Amino acid sequence: MISIIGSGRVGSTLAMILVQRNIDDVTLVDIIPNLPEGEALDLSHMASELGVDARISGSNDYSALKGSDIVVVTAGLARKPGMTRMDLLTKNAGIIKSVSQEVARYAPNCKLIMVTNPLDAMTLVALKASGFPKNRVFGMSGMLDLSRFKQLLADYLHVSRSSIDALVIGEHGESMTPLPSYTSVSGIPLRKLLSEQQIDEAIEKTRKVAAEVIAKRVQPLMRQQTAWRGWSRPSTTTRKQCYLAPLTWKESSASVGSASESRSSWVQMELKRFSRLN
Ligand SMILES: NC(=O)c1ccc[n+]([C@@H]2O[C@H](COP(=O)([O-])OP(=O)(O)OC[C@H]3O[C@@H](n4cnc5c(N)ncnc54)[C@H](O)[C@@H]3O)[C@@H](O)[C@H]2O)c1
Repeated sequence: MISIIGSGRVGSTLAMILVQRNIDDVTLVDIIPNLPEGEALDLSHMASELGVDARISGSNDYSALKGSDIVVVTAGLARKPGMTRMDLLTKNAGIIKSVSQEVARYAPNCKLIMVTNPLDAMTLVALKASGFPKNRVFGMSGMLDLSRFKQLLADYLHVSRSSIDALVIGEHGESMTPLPSYTSVSGIPLRKLLSEQQIDEAIEKTRKVAAEVIAKRVQPLMRQQTAWRGWSRPSTTTRKQCYLAPLTWKESSASVGSASESRSSWVQMELKRFSRLN
């Protein structure tokens, strides 16, 4: 079983990929009431369409981690526009410490894969708080940095992404180190295809492109969330219609979802679903 702690953008997307590829049973855990169950339900409907028989469940209780072979931790705060990964340090360290202790309690033999930022620091916190040996605690850093470097090179050279072999080492942060000497396109060394200036430019862009992604993807969603504050979905309106004209409704007393479902968690869930639809 693969468990994912944090059912936000990264956690729910990972769960979707695991189900689509029929890799293993999936368990989602989050602190937001109902969110992991809702995600699991949604994914199980997709699994049904795909003919995938993996067990998919969600819970607010860490005991759901029992029996996990792998636990992926995506729980914590994500960057907002203008923030660096290090700005998340103090708050996420507290979250990761308690999450890792729960992992050690309920899944003492699992392999732990950290995703939460600042990644390198959070991996160290998880290593210490879990008490796991270091060969069972991993941090997901280089893979994403590498895929960003390859994408930029593919753009420069107009070649297939799959023809590029490259290496990015170091911190998952501003000081990551793409290695042009270990980069080739269909076996041709990068330095035979691009000038030093173009390579330096690609390296600099690789370091900074995450901030661009956040500015372009997260900011509009934040604006939309702000616009939603104080608004309720009229009972006759479908959720999809809400996205089309969220600013056209007046404040309504109509309830949104079940009585116990808070508006903010509903909006969060819908924003996640919306980003997936797009
Ligand atoms: N390493 C990487 O390559 C990489 C890539 C993308 C994002 N990230 C990082 O991953 C993290 C998650 O990003 P996201 O976009 O999914 O954020 P998100 O806000 O969409 O989701 C985070 C989820 O964590 C949950 N959470 C918070 N505290 C928790 C706790 N104690 N137990 C269980 N769940 C808890 C929240 O309720 C939320 O649902 C961020 O820190 C982000 O910077 C890392």
